[in-house]
Amino acid sequence: MPESFSPGLEGVIAGETAVACVDQGRLLYRGYTIQDLAENASFEEVLHLLLYETLPDRDQLAGIKSTLFKFRPLAEPVVQMLRPIPKSVSMMDVLRSAVSYAAHWDPIRGKDEAANGQRALWLTSQIAAIIAARFRLMNGLEPIPPKEGLDHAAQILYQCHGEAPDQLSADLIDLTLVLYAEHEFNASTFACRVICSTLSDLTSAVVGAIGALKGPLHGGANEAAMEMLLKFKSGEEARQWIREALARKEKVMGFGHRVYKHGDHRADVLERKLRQLAAQKGQQRWMEIYDAIKEPMVNEKKIFPNVDYPCGLTYYLLGLPIDLYTPLFVAARIAGWSAHFIEQARNNRLYRPLSQYAGPPVRPVPPLEQRKQAG
Ligand code: CMC
Repeated sequence: MPESFSPGLEGVIAGETAVACVDQGRLLYRGYTIQDLAENASFEEVLHLLLYETLPDRDQLAGIKSTLFKFRPLAEPVVQMLRPIPKSVSMMDVLRSAVSYAAHWDPIRGKDEAANGQRALWLTSQIAAIIAARFRLMNGLEPIPPKEGLDHAAQILYQCHGEAPDQLSADLIDLTLVLYAEHEFNASTFACRVICSTLSDLTSAVVGAIGALKGPLHGGANEAAMEMLLKFKSGEEARQWIREALARKEKVMGFGHRVYKHGDHRADVLERKLRQLAAQKGQQRWMEIYDAIKEPMVNEKKIFPNVDYPCGLTYYLLGLPIDLYTPLFVAARIAGWSAHFIEQARNNRLYRPLSQYAGPPVRPVPPLEQRKQAG
């Protein structure tokens, strides 16, 4: 095999997948465009599509919803484990630890494909329940059981706030879950596939993927983008800052993408909804700030918003605390991670690339007394 070197694996095809297609012109989940799915499918339907390769019929949809409901309650030791965690610990760190801990009460037996499909549904419910339980404990409230009849997105809001959400909030959370559910060989999914390739288990792969998603160059960007917007009281302040930031060659969070160089399909879908939300809530000032950052990025730098840019502000206008944004990304991407794990396991080859050595040349180990202390 010829050896080649591409920092960050840019441009390298590292595997084959039928789960999704990401390119300049389109984003497909198993052949369906993201625009079509965003308009016509719920998160549960997308979850079924990603895991089982088809959109569900009525009975299958009812089945997946009742399985998600059944898997929602957390084992008591998991709730107890959440209680003493200091308030200063980020929700992503709590989620990473709690998913790993919850797996000690994994009710699914076996490691075959059918078992992993069920385990993926169990993880989907447990992740959502952990987020809500931590949210309530942070606010001095007791975690509550799920309420029958609520869809996945509405259930997350219900288990956080203790009351069924309004339709607009439930629909928007559902939309972000659909948009975040899958994105081909992104960093966290790749981490998940690498872990799978050693014949490790789904939960270990998901815990590793959560760690990869947390970083601000990946999923952490939705929180970082909102932190940035919060610095400004007006569009004018934002305009001034972005001019200076670009002059300093600063990275602007929520912009740019390794694959998309002419815009992120998901950002366009979400931005349209965000504009409606801001108008409905009388929060036009936020759109002025949003556009003040976006315009020079797009018009002068030709760097486009990715999905995390409109997502941060959408969650903010829905009244969600910033610490919840990347965990909600996890609550969605568990679908894609699981589908990739199953696909990788089906046709596995260990991931083991080469590196280019850039260290010192061969040298002898000096005796201890001849080694100089550093500094
Ligand atoms: N702000 C300012 N300049 C940027 C940005 C940005 N957000 N993104 C890229 N650039 C510039 C970069 O400075 C470089 O310029 P030059 O060639 O003059 O040095 C050029 O564009 C190429 O950038 P790169 O970082 O080499 O490109 P990449 O393919 O490695 O980066 C990226 C992709 C997502 C890491 C990067 O765009 C970035 O850091 N964006 C901010 C973080 C972010 O929003 N991440 C979310 C990614 S998408 C959704 C998700 O996974 O959550």
